[in-house]
Amino acid sequence: MLNRRQWLVAGGLTLGSPFGAHAALGHPDALYTGPFGTEPALQPLRGWVDAQDRLAEGLRVEGRLPAALRGTLYRNGPGLLERAGQRYAHWFDGDGLVQAWHFEGAAVRHTARFVRTRKFELEHEAGAFLLPAFGTAIPARRPLRSSDDVNTANTGVILQGGRLYALWEGGSAHELDPETLHTRGRKVWAPELTGMPFSAHPKREPDGTLWNFGAFMGKLALYQIGPHGALVRSRVLDLPVAAMVHDFVLTERFLVFVLPPLELDPQGLREGRSLVGAMRWRAEQPNRIVVIDKSDLSVRTVLEAPPELLFHFGNAWDDGDALIRLDYVSTDHQRFLSGGFNSMLHGHRSEPFSPSNPRLVQIDLRKRRVTLASRLEQVEFPQVDPRVVGRAYRYVFYPEARGRRWGEGAAVLRVDLQRDRTERFDFGPGVIVEEQLLVPKPGRSREGQGWLVGTGFDSRRQRSFCTVFDAEAVSAGPVATVWLPYWAPLGFHGHFQFAA
Ligand SMILES: [Fe+2]
Repeated sequence: MLNRRQWLVAGGLTLGSPFGAHAALGHPDALYTGPFGTEPALQPLRGWVDAQDRLAEGLRVEGRLPAALRGTLYRNGPGLLERAGQRYAHWFDGDGLVQAWHFEGAAVRHTARFVRTRKFELEHEAGAFLLPAFGTAIPARRPLRSSDDVNTANTGVILQGGRLYALWEGGSAHELDPETLHTRGRKVWAPELTGMPFSAHPKREPDGTLWNFGAFMGKLALYQIGPHGALVRSRVLDLPVAAMVHDFVLTERFLVFVLPPLELDPQGLREGRSLVGAMRWRAEQPNRIVVIDKSDLSVRTVLEAPPELLFHFGNAWDDGDALIRLDYVSTDHQRFLSGGFNSMLHGHRSEPFSPSNPRLVQIDLRKRRVTLASRLEQVEFPQVDPRVVGRAYRYVFYPEARGRRWGEGAAVLRVDLQRDRTERFDFGPGVIVEEQLLVPKPGRSREGQGWLVGTGFDSRRQRSFCTVFDAEAVSAGPVATVWLPYWAPLGFHGHFQFAA
C-alpha cells in the first residue's frame, strides 16, 4: 500500500516542490485582489469575510411547518474565500462552514460554525492564506506532511452511528459535535487508514450500511461502515487510470465508478499551477466505468463510454447479473478547467450557464455495452429517496436553474423517470436554490412520500432561506419557508437527521 507521503507527492503537494511556486498574474488560478462586485445574486459567494461562527434563534416561518418534521438539516460548503484582501480563484477552495437548521416543532434555530481544520487554525491565526488550494495557486508557507494539511472539510456532511462528520474529497473526515458543531478532530477508521482520503459522497443503503471511497494516485480506497459507525471492511484497489473521482453509486451487488479522462499534467504543477490549473482534458480518451463486486470488493469489469465530466450521481440499481441502470449529471469540462467560475466568485456578472444535464445510463454487463440517454433540464445536486438508494427507483429531485445566468431564476424539480414527467415549482427571478433532500414522512413507506428540505437565497431580500415542500406536490410550492435574518454562504451538500 502507498504511504501518505507517496500520494501527497502524487498530488503535487510537497513542500519544496515547484507546486505553487509563483502563479502567473492573470492566470485563472491566481489569487484575486480586486474589489468584490455588486451583483446582488452573487453576494453569498463572497463568503463570510470575518470567519465568525453565527447563531440565530426564533427564525421567521412563513406557512406551516409539518409537526412531524423534527430534526436537523446539516449543510456544508465553502464559507471563507477571502483573507487579507485576497480571494480564492475557485469556489471549491473555501474553508468548510457547517450549518445546522434545527427544526423543533414551530421553532427553528440556525447554527453555523467553521470546521477547525489545521489549515483554518493556521490561517486564521496568521490572518492570511498560507497553504495551497485545489483551484488557486498559493505557495506553501507551512510544512506539508499530508493532504490533511490542506484539508478544508468543505464539501459534505454525514451522520453515522450518532457521529457527525464534515467531509472533503482528498483527506480525512472531521468529526463535529452534532449539537454545537464544535470540531472534535480528524477521524481515523483504522490505524492503517490514517490520513487516507474519505470522500464527501458516502452512500447509505436502506439497511444503514455506509459505503465510501477515497481516490488517490491511481488507487481507490473502499470503506464499508456498519450502521453503528464501525468500519466493517476496507480495501485499496488499482484504478485503470489516475482520475479525479468525486462521487459514485451502488446497487445491491455492485459499486460503480465513472472515471472521466481528466489528467494531472506534471508540467503544469512545475510551472506553479494549482491542481485544477494543472489538469488537462484528454478528449481522445473514453470515460471508464469501473464496476466493483460488493461481495469481495474486486473489480468485476471496466467498460468505456464517451468522455464527459461529471460530479454527481442520482442513484443506481441492478437487476441481477445482467443490467445496471444509473443516472448522473454531466457537466462542461471546459468551464470547470478554464476558471469559468472566476467572475462569479468575485461578485461580477456570471457567464451564461454551460450545459449541466441529467444522463440516464444502462450498462449491459453480459454484452459489455453502455447506453446513454440525455435529459435537457439544467440541473445539479441530484437526490433520491433514501429508502431506494441502490434499488429500483422512480424519482430524482434537483434544484434547477432557469434563465441563462445565475439569479435569473430557479426551481425545485421532481423528475419521474418511470413516466417521463417533470413537476417543478419556479421561484422566479432573483432566487438561487440549493440541494433538496428527500426526507421520508414517518410511517409512510412508498418512494417519494416525504418532504423536500433544502436551502436557497433570495437576492432581492439578501436573505437565505430553507424551504419545506411536500415531495408529492412540488408544483404547489413550499408548505413552509424559514428565513435567516442575513445571508449565509452558498454550499454543496447536506444531510437530514430526525431528532431522537
Ligand atoms: Fe459533490
